[in-house]
Amino acid sequence: MRIVVTGGAGYVGSHTAVELLRRGHHVTIIDNFSNSSQASPGRIAMIAGQSAACENLDVRDCSAVTELLRDNRIDAVIHLAGLKAVGESCANPLDYFDNNIGGTISLLRAMRAADVRQLVFSSSATVYGQPENNPISEDAPRHALNPYARTKIVSEDLIGDLCNSQIEFRAAILRYFNPVGAHPSGLIGEDPNGMPDNLMPYICQVAVGRRAELQVFGGDYPTRDGTGLRDYLHVVDLARAHVDALDYLVREDANLTVNLGSGNGFTVLEMIQAFERTNRIQIPYRVMPRRAGDVAEVFADASLARRLMGWRAEQTLERMCEDAWRWQSMNPDGFGVEIPA
Ligand code: UFG
Repeated sequence: MRIVVTGGAGYVGSHTAVELLRRGHHVTIIDNFSNSSQASPGRIAMIAGQSAACENLDVRDCSAVTELLRDNRIDAVIHLAGLKAVGESCANPLDYFDNNIGGTISLLRAMRAADVRQLVFSSSATVYGQPENNPISEDAPRHALNPYARTKIVSEDLIGDLCNSQIEFRAAILRYFNPVGAHPSGLIGEDPNGMPDNLMPYICQVAVGRRAELQVFGGDYPTRDGTGLRDYLHVVDLARAHVDALDYLVREDANLTVNLGSGNGFTVLEMIQAFERTNRIQIPYRVMPRRAGDVAEVFADASLARRLMGWRAEQTLERMCEDAWRWQSMNPDGFGVEIPA
């Protein structure tokens, strides 16, 4: 198939592009490089042995996106472009509404104009807010606890309404839990701008000496060891799920909303220990007060994705730690330094 990946130079997008190329699809990346590197498409080509086309374009540029979809006779879009930092969304909600909701509307308009009828959308476990029960299944209530979560809920609903009004339109909504790790080549991985918000990139930056110590946010949660518990999944497993979701849309001619997680939870201290054990590196840490907005535990009921798509998270926590560290140690400054071909 001929597939556009919006945000295809980013963390999840680059791994998804590799997986699509590996399975024989033609890939065009659309990215505005606001939180990704111009070096990423070259690295994707090094891994896959072939290139994705790449356009420096904002998804909100509806006429340019329409033209690109038409000119390249695109069959499907995987929409990953968006802003994703919870704290930043509380400070600048309008940026989030504009990029994430405005971007989705603009893309849907372009797809409509170019008659592209298949969409895979990157949603998040953040739509569940403070879950009443774990594991969380897809029919659990959704609550927006911050503007970022709101953009995901609204985008899910816009896409759902479009599916109802345009009977030939097909969409897969993928609710990611906590993606971590990197491609085993060490050529692509997560490269946050500035101070990392998320646990694994922070651990990696402590390991590589860019930060002195990890702050563990909260030691008094009602979990096994008092620290927050999450459902981590390897980004390569997550990338595979996007291609499986696309296969599902084509094969079943039906829409889909699924959780993507491993179904297992690990605490912050367990993550630190797994990283230390796997990579033989000490991670100094200090237990601090809770971070505002965090919940004690979140983990997925991932059985629906298995039942419908035949997908499940396969890679172990050790592989996640090993691959995250390979990426960080080969690229201490992220994509800042070119690796020669
Ligand atoms: N944590 C620390 N120290 C850090 C960073 C995180 O102790 O420096 C802890 C958090 O308190 C939490 C766990 O590590 O208990 C995981 O935190 P992350 O920030 O890595 O992930 P979150 O679960 O908070 O958030 C992630 C995404 C969100 C998404 C959410 C969905 O970053 O975008 O999952 O559940 F909305």
